Amino acid sequence: MPDDQMFPPSAEMAANAHADRATYDAMYEASVADPESFWAEHGKRIDWIKPYTRVKNTSFAPGNVSIKWFEDGTLNIAANCIDRHLKERGTQTAIIWEPDSPDDEAQHITYQQLHAHVCKFANVLKGMGVGKGDRVVLYMPMIPQAAYAMLACARIGAIHSIVFAGFSADALSARINGSDAKVVITADGAPRGGRVTNLKDNVNQALLHCDDNVQCLIVKRTGQQVAIRPTGDVWLHEAEADVSNDCPPEEMNAEDPLFILYTSGSTGMPKGVVHTTGGYLVYASMTHEYTFDYKDGEVFWCTADVGWVTGHSYIVYGPLANGATTVMFEGVPTYPDAGRFWAVCEKHKVAQFYTAPTALRALMGQGNSFVEPYDLSSLRILGTVGEPINPEAWNWYNDVVGKGKCPIVDTWWQTETGGHLLTPLPGAIPTKPGSATLPFFGIQPVILEPTTGEEIHETAAEGVLCIKDSWPGQMRTVWGDHERFEKTYFSDYKNYYFTGDGCRRDADGYYWITGRVDDVINVSGHRMGTAEVESALVAHQKVAEAAVVGYPHTVKGQGIYAYVTLMGGEEPSDELRKELSDWVRSEIGPIAKPDLIQWAPGLPKTRSGKIMRRILRKIAEDDFGALGDTSTLADPSVVDDLIENRMNR
Ligand code: WTA
Repeated sequence: MPDDQMFPPSAEMAANAHADRATYDAMYEASVADPESFWAEHGKRIDWIKPYTRVKNTSFAPGNVSIKWFEDGTLNIAANCIDRHLKERGTQTAIIWEPDSPDDEAQHITYQQLHAHVCKFANVLKGMGVGKGDRVVLYMPMIPQAAYAMLACARIGAIHSIVFAGFSADALSARINGSDAKVVITADGAPRGGRVTNLKDNVNQALLHCDDNVQCLIVKRTGQQVAIRPTGDVWLHEAEADVSNDCPPEEMNAEDPLFILYTSGSTGMPKGVVHTTGGYLVYASMTHEYTFDYKDGEVFWCTADVGWVTGHSYIVYGPLANGATTVMFEGVPTYPDAGRFWAVCEKHKVAQFYTAPTALRALMGQGNSFVEPYDLSSLRILGTVGEPINPEAWNWYNDVVGKGKCPIVDTWWQTETGGHLLTPLPGAIPTKPGSATLPFFGIQPVILEPTTGEEIHETAAEGVLCIKDSWPGQMRTVWGDHERFEKTYFSDYKNYYFTGDGCRRDADGYYWITGRVDDVINVSGHRMGTAEVESALVAHQKVAEAAVVGYPHTVKGQGIYAYVTLMGGEEPSDELRKELSDWVRSEIGPIAKPDLIQWAPGLPKTRSGKIMRRILRKIAEDDFGALGDTSTLADPSVVDDLIENRMNR
């Protein structure tokens, strides 16, 4: 049984880490017994302009969900991530930027330089009329200016909303309009894996569907030709020539919004998750320090994109609040070859390496010869995030990358949670391949029986994962729609935060995430709502109806399987399959492209017209022996046709 395979921390790790088992147990116990005192103490890890006197004021009560932490304190996040380090480590590298091509030179940006860049950037934004509370959308490559832009917003109190640069122009315009942004920050082009995406073109297309007054600030990355609009477009390097590098940080309330980040849910279009200032920074910085056992002077590398929450918390805010050296990587794991990650680890002497299981599975498939040439002796801790890791990939990571000496921290969390909720601490918790193990300080996970909502108190349990009480990094609301916030996370199970994940707790009290229990799928660690893909498909003129489900995929974790019913008179063909795939790509982005499209003359529906997704999932999984009861279907014969013509065999 994989459950029984345990990997305890080495004695050396336990002795030198921020927390050994006894420390973890004592701190965890204190954090749940008296959260007020625990967080009153740990809130001090960051600098406050006006210290808080109220620590926790939170309620999950139906109709009255309200989450406030440190609510009367004031601070500035950019000052915490930059200014407060200047005296002690002004000349230390804050950001190491590794460009897409290994032939181009890496950049080392010190805290002093970061300060100057961010202040100038902030003054440029001010010059464009951006002030406290205004929204700024970022649509950026993984370049240092993405971090400068985030911190510049934080410095002047503007709210950033990053849109992953792999999203299409349509998805971008929806997000610009969703937050009423004043400015979009982008670059001329984004090199990735040797290919260049013309970001500014996408922005221009998106802005056709936005208010005429939305301005665009452009970073010169590639120097390629781009179309500049007659008004409202500004080049960063030109605007920076005219501004000073002095920009005093704005005094922000702990509960002022820091950023909006759109994420997929089970229904409707993506929602804008709102994180605020004080609690978020306390939680991001504390998890960064403890989960990765980060020590002064170490080089930390999280391979995520700043377009996802992982990039927010563990490339920028957590590490910089801790005065760390953080790596920003512009490229992809397989360019110029499958050894790139390990080449970069060797080159920059990375101590903590944090990536997604999908990348590990892809690299594992390329063979050990891409890892072996590199000196990985600087690595101390390995991390994973985004999806369950299969034991085979875990063991490969442990043996081939970590040489059996680096603890693996499998961190379970969400855009909504701001930082890790379930994770081993490297010096404290024996790991088991595939388990995110135990809760972080202050987190009270519970397993509920899915239909009754009753909490299961036995240690060994399986059901839906909820969290009993608030923690400082929790999202505060859905941008512009607090009702949706309550409905999504607090209505199915009263007085709990509902995660949307299924979970098993084993006899040792370890948590094993079993995957989403809603209509969200996880493709290569990216969250995608099946409803979003369906609405993109039915927006195509040849499509009458579509149903989308996930199915197991060896590299991506889950693939996208679409059942499509065509309009009368339309003929199915491979060309049409490609046309529909390309269509979804242009409507949402490449990550939403269906892997398999099955032509469905009819979809299995109940007599009241509800699509029976359970059946569609089983067929997509090639597991139709276990279809269960189909007697409530309006027309059971459609199922036979779907089985007959299934795509995943
Ligand atoms: C899944 C990413 C298993 C889970 C930080 C969650 C995981 C969703 C893990 C959130 C993990 C994330 N093990 N599953 N270690 N980490 N997930 O918002 O289903 O992009 O609900 O945040 O990813 O995805 P999101």
